[in-house]
Amino acid sequence: SIPSLHEVFKDQFRIGAAVNPGILAGERDLLVKHFNSLTAENEMKFESLHPEENRYTFQHGDQLIAFAKEHGMGVRGHTLVWHNQTPDWVFRNASGGDADRVTLLARMKEHINTVVTRYKGDIYAWDVVNEAVSDSGPEVLRSSRWLDIVGDDFIAKAFQYAHEADPDALLFYNDYNESVPEKREKIYSLVKSLKEQEVPIHGVGLQAHWNLELPSIDHIRQAIERYASLGLQLHITELDVSVFLHEDRRTDLTEPTSEMMEKQAERYEQFFSLFREYSANVTSVTFWGACDRYTWLDGFPVRGRKNWPFLFDGQGQPKESFWKVIK
Ligand code: G3I
Repeated sequence: SIPSLHEVFKDQFRIGAAVNPGILAGERDLLVKHFNSLTAENEMKFESLHPEENRYTFQHGDQLIAFAKEHGMGVRGHTLVWHNQTPDWVFRNASGGDADRVTLLARMKEHINTVVTRYKGDIYAWDVVNEAVSDSGPEVLRSSRWLDIVGDDFIAKAFQYAHEADPDALLFYNDYNESVPEKREKIYSLVKSLKEQEVPIHGVGLQAHWNLELPSIDHIRQAIERYASLGLQLHITELDVSVFLHEDRRTDLTEPTSEMMEKQAERYEQFFSLFREYSANVTSVTFWGACDRYTWLDGFPVRGRKNWPFLFDGQGQPKESFWKVIK
């Protein structure tokens, strides 16, 4: 018989899945059996919840919360402040130019307060600020309208507003390329400075969009140790393991090769060994999907290309990767 993933890891960390309304409806049994945490893939982002200044659309978010409650699962909130999937009105004034700092901060506060208050007690952790650090170059923060209009302290403000709205929610800074040494050090210095300013931050989210060769286990270990040295919790927030190497641009595969599946299983085994080794720090592991039927990697970064990044195949059946993780 097939063991339940979340039960196997119950003494280590939560096991989560990112879902959209289609997956929530189509994969109920798989979700309930193997996962004890859910994240909205898109439905709790700014543009989904708050498309116009005086209009909120909570329907899909509420449905996800109701499903999670019904099945005793937790919910990770994603995401309050991001440069993507945020409507244009947020950054504009009445004449169509840029909003000023005071207006933008007031809008940020109103949004965070409304959303976090609505789900108070239902969401155990929020990705408060997502992907604010630059991938390359000397500057720590990437250019964005939040940064350009508000200034560096948009990050600290977001955490303060979230903490005021729900003092019990764990508040996370979340980013990708989190294990690349150059970016790791920028994330580390950002979070360190937030801690030094006594900003209410409780964790670092490692997105973990990984593949068959990168990042190396050494780099992942170093990232975990570095972030953990700040005395914060770590959540793996968007785990998936692409079966393509960087230079592989093939679009003709209708199923993964056995070599891909073996290598992926080996990688997953190493990742979960590492998470278990650091389970004092890593308290939640969320996949950015549930099974290979659907993933945001379908078509990214190569158009028309299918990917198979999870532990369950397109029919929801366990793959070799699943059995290696269980082992
Ligand atoms: O909402 C429109 C819909 O009206 C339209 O019919 C449809 C047609 O393509 O597009 C819909 O929007 C898409 C949206 O997902 C909802 O499905 C966007 O085009 C598409 O770009 C968007 O992609 C999402 C992406 O974030 C956008 O930034 C992915 O589903 C989602 O998996 C991805 O998630 C991000 C995390 O939030 C942050 N970290 C990286 C991760 C992967 O990119």
